[in-house]
Order: sequence, then C-alpha cells, then structure tokens
Amino acid sequence: MFEKYKPVYREDYTKWIKTQKDEIAKIAKDPKRLTYHLMPEKGWLNDPNGLCQFKGIYHIYYQYDPFDINGDLKLWAHVTTKDFIHYEQKEPFLFPDSDIDTHGAYSGSAFVKDNQIHYFYTGNIKLFDRDDYDYIHSGRVANTIHLVSDDGEHFDQKQLVMEMKDYPKEFTQHVRDPKLIEEKGIYYMVQGARDQKDHGAILIFSSNDLEHWEYRYSLTSDQPLGYMWECPDLFELDQQKILITCPQGVSTDGMDYANVHSVTWMQVDGEMETGLHISKIHQLDRGFDFYAPQSFEDEQGRRILIGWMGIPDADYTNPTTQDGWQHALTIPRLLEWKNGVLHQKPLPQLQALRRNSRKLNAEQLNELHFDEASFELCIEADNCKEMELQLNEEICMTMKEGLFTLDIHACGAGRDQRSVALDHLDDIQIFSDTTSLEIFLNDGTEVFTTRIYPTRPRCVKLNIKDNTAAITLHSLMAHQFK
Ligand code: FRU
Repeated sequence: MFEKYKPVYREDYTKWIKTQKDEIAKIAKDPKRLTYHLMPEKGWLNDPNGLCQFKGIYHIYYQYDPFDINGDLKLWAHVTTKDFIHYEQKEPFLFPDSDIDTHGAYSGSAFVKDNQIHYFYTGNIKLFDRDDYDYIHSGRVANTIHLVSDDGEHFDQKQLVMEMKDYPKEFTQHVRDPKLIEEKGIYYMVQGARDQKDHGAILIFSSNDLEHWEYRYSLTSDQPLGYMWECPDLFELDQQKILITCPQGVSTDGMDYANVHSVTWMQVDGEMETGLHISKIHQLDRGFDFYAPQSFEDEQGRRILIGWMGIPDADYTNPTTQDGWQHALTIPRLLEWKNGVLHQKPLPQLQALRRNSRKLNAEQLNELHFDEASFELCIEADNCKEMELQLNEEICMTMKEGLFTLDIHACGAGRDQRSVALDHLDDIQIFSDTTSLEIFLNDGTEVFTTRIYPTRPRCVKLNIKDNTAAITLHSLMAHQFK
C-alpha cells in the first residue's frame, strides 16, 4: 500500500484500489454524502485541476488520495460531463510516478490549443539528504511540468519545462500551480509564490511555443497580503483582467479575512507585455469552506469557476472523516464582470436538477411542511434591510443594521459565524445539500460556501419586513454518475 514519499505507479494504484471496494461501497451509503456535488469515493480531495471543455466534453480533475483521510498522496482524479448533471468517473489521469514529481502531482491547469490539451502542473519533491531543511528556503523542488493530450485521458511523456534555477532569486522555494493566459499571440504563465520576505506574489513567465519559458516579472498588491499566494488564475472577462488567487495567512480584519487562508479576486490593469498593477481586492467567498478555485472558458465563451469546498489548516473539522472521506468540489459558477465587480452565479445548466418548483410568499413558505436537504431557495426582495431566515433551528441567516450574517455554530463542527457588510439585500439564492450550503447574495456579488452537519431536518422559516418578496423553492435531484 501507499507509503508517504514513495512514487505511485498506475499498476500499484489499480491493485490497491481493488482492496478498497467494500469500504467504498460502505461510504456510498453514508447519509452525509452530498447529492449533487463531486466528492472523493473514499479518502481525501482538494483542489480542482486542469478544468477545460474539449470537443464538447467538460474535464474536471482534482487532487485526490483514496488511501488517506488527510491526503498524503497527490494524484489527479478525473471525471467528465457534458451537462454538469450526468458525470462519468474516469481512471486517474496523473500519478506521481517519475523522478520529476515523486512527492506529488500537485495542482495545475489545462490550456486548449490547436486541437490538443496542454497541461501544466507542479511536480513536488522534498529532499531528505539533510536534517536542517526548512522546506521554505531549502529542501524543496517545484518542477513545472508540461503534458500534451489529444483526448484528456492519455498523454505523451512528462516534459520538464522549468526547475528551481529558472525561478527568480528573490523568491523562496514555494513556487507552484501554473495557469496560462494568451495575449497578442504570446503565452503567459502565472505561478503562485512566496518571496524571501514572506510576502505572497505571482510570478509571470512568457513563451512563444509553450515549451520554452522565460521569467518576466512578479506581481503583488501595493500592501502585503499574506505570506504565499497559491493557485493564481489570471484571465480576462469583458475586457477586464482579473486575478483570482489564494493568499495564505492574511490576518483577520474585523469580519474580513476570517479564515486561516483567503481567496480573493483582484482587478488588474495593464498589459501582460508591459506590466500589470492590482487596483482592487475583494474576497471571493466569505464562507468557511472555499479554497483553490480554478476557472476556464468553455466552448460557448462562458467563464466557469469551480472551487474546493474545503480549506487547509482550519481549526474546524469534518465529521465525515469518521466515515472515511472528506471534502468536495463546489457547484460550477458562471463568472460575470459588471460595473467593476465580479459576479458569481450558479451555472444555469444546474436548473436541470430542479424538481417540484413552487412560487410562494413568506406566509406560504412558513406554513409549508418541508424537510428536504437538497434544494434551491431563491428570494427576491427589493432593497430589504431586515430579514431572518432559518433553515432549521441550527442554521440562521440574518440581514440587520447593514450586516448579513450566517450563523451555523449549532451544526458547524467548530464553524460559528461569518458576516459581510451590506447596505441591503436584493436577492438571495441558496443551494442546500445534505451537508453543504452555497449562498449567493445580491446577484452573486457576495458568496458564502460552507459545510454544515445538521442534526435536525430542514424546515424553512422566513421573517421578512417586505412581504412582497418573491420566493421560489425548488427541490433538487441528485446528479447521475456512471
Ligand atoms: C492548494 C495547494 C496547492 C498545491 C496543492 C497540493 O490547496 O496547496 O498550492 O499545488 O494544494 O495538493
């Protein structure tokens, strides 16, 4: 079976996973399993990787370890879908099986060009030949590796395109998570990094052929924000450059940056060739469980984002670990740029999950006998300044005195409250699943993603000043897997 810091070959994996069949079947019956989210069959999941649409098929890969609940092994699991409702489980795509990625096929991305998918990821290696390595400034190798595939399932050989000597000296050995953007016929790669002064930044490299890369410059915020920026994703949306990245260790500031690590979107001005500047920073999600999101442009030109519904190093837990699994991916979100603000909306294709849609007013909602866990609740209330919404006695959302608050302390396994300052609430759209909530406020300008572990059935109760609010409640069916 898998031993930490030993390479894993496809043949080993195939042998080992066969021994896990009974355990996987048992986990599938866990009532805490989500119904329309991607989860590990067993063990651990973290970042989404390599997201793309190729010849009509969406490919979703993710960091996965079926053998350990805390994810020591880092390989790329793979699922495909045409519609985000029907999924196909594929064989894992990528194993840490070579001397350039022995200790982890870490996160990376896909770039579709000329009928092929190019993948770039970080091959992680830890050195053990000395005992004084701190694994920040010494003892670590982060290789940038390139693969080419004609189908998203097979690839030629792993090609090393950058190694430690190719990264700038002012940075520590924490360099990882490559993502590409093309501008004016030149390819640019962004990588997350930690500098020698322990400030997060991204590194920007350029290439004319996707094989030879040259370091160009680094980009960071005017004021330092965290010690390391992970999983950078730089893209253009409606002619605006946006950088989504995960600054680690940002100090909590009132209700902002309340998690141990953060996820931000940043407005970026300038051109890739001549240099960039960050002019605005906003938290992408204010819930307890959201990290390492990645976006891609699909064949219809939509920018879709999927995140890890989990976070590293948090002091709250997931009771599912006792059942042999933890974490999930978020629902796919559509990104839009409007009036200088990034909007995130549940992908419209998810409407195909809706069953038994009911239009109600607040009074009818409160009288409804309703105890389903998988549902979508939409409330449109023009300029609402005060409201209380309970999904049961353990889950409460309030809008009061310019503050929206989510309180799940009674069922959060250590999660308590998160808030955002909002002048008013125009709409709220909630995706509830057995053990998760994704809450979109005011046209998706604020989002809260969190795991919950309720002990009581749901029963929606709304107390709202404005009783003209239009409410729609949809039951949601489970996604289909084969
Ligand atoms: C983010 C992250 C990435 C890394 C990956 C390893 O959660 O730490 O920076 O590539 O996870 O699984």
